[in-house]
Amino acid sequence: MRIDVLTLFPEMVEPVLGQSIVGRAIEEGQVEVRVVDFREYSPDKHKKVDDMPFGGGPGMVLRVEPIVRALRAIEGYETARKIILTPQGSPYTQSTARTLSGEKHLVLLCGHYEGIDERVSDYFDEEVSIGDYVLTGGEIAALALIDSTVRLLPGVLHNAASSDEDTFSAGLLEYPQYTRPRVFEGKSVPEVLLSGHHEAIRAWRELEMLKRTKARRKDLFDRHVEKRKKKG
Ligand code: ADE
Repeated sequence: MRIDVLTLFPEMVEPVLGQSIVGRAIEEGQVEVRVVDFREYSPDKHKKVDDMPFGGGPGMVLRVEPIVRALRAIEGYETARKIILTPQGSPYTQSTARTLSGEKHLVLLCGHYEGIDERVSDYFDEEVSIGDYVLTGGEIAALALIDSTVRLLPGVLHNAASSDEDTFSAGLLEYPQYTRPRVFEGKSVPEVLLSGHHEAIRAWRELEMLKRTKARRKDLFDRHVEKRKKKG
């Protein structure tokens, strides 16, 4: 997979990509990430990338020219899946991550300031939001998208079961996990996990997933119950 990130703050993105599982995937060549500073593509001599909004109002708006010029400089951009990160986008979910992990080439545009000239959207396929809150820019959102997508690429998580058992793959939150010591400051690990009874452990975990999802994410729980009813 190839990913191009269009940003005004490459130093917000690059160091993060070198770490952990994504860093290893890049090193091993499972994904190639390029970070492009689209300020370089500003047509004016002061490299200005923003301007005042037509119609007035607070803040500055990202101009269309630097972005479209930077996009056109990306080799193979025509066939890439081109995504704008913005709080105005459709909600990003694990299912989006699964779909994107099947793509060969992604181009991610990180917005900033009050917004992006609306005409930019004609050159991109979709707009994505990572949640109902406003970040100072799209970089952290792009990193979240990259991280969650790259870990699903074949061979990236060396233990394949770990992405199948993820929270949300089953539409439920995960069961609680414990490791040594068995007792810490009087808090014990649930007895069943030490029992060696695989079926009892499986049943306990399933119940915990349901209990936790019902308590914390009633929306997911209700959807899960509906799905089960349909399956009969
Ligand atoms: N840029 C600013 N806030 C954002 C969000 N919630 N999701 C995606 N991009 C953003």
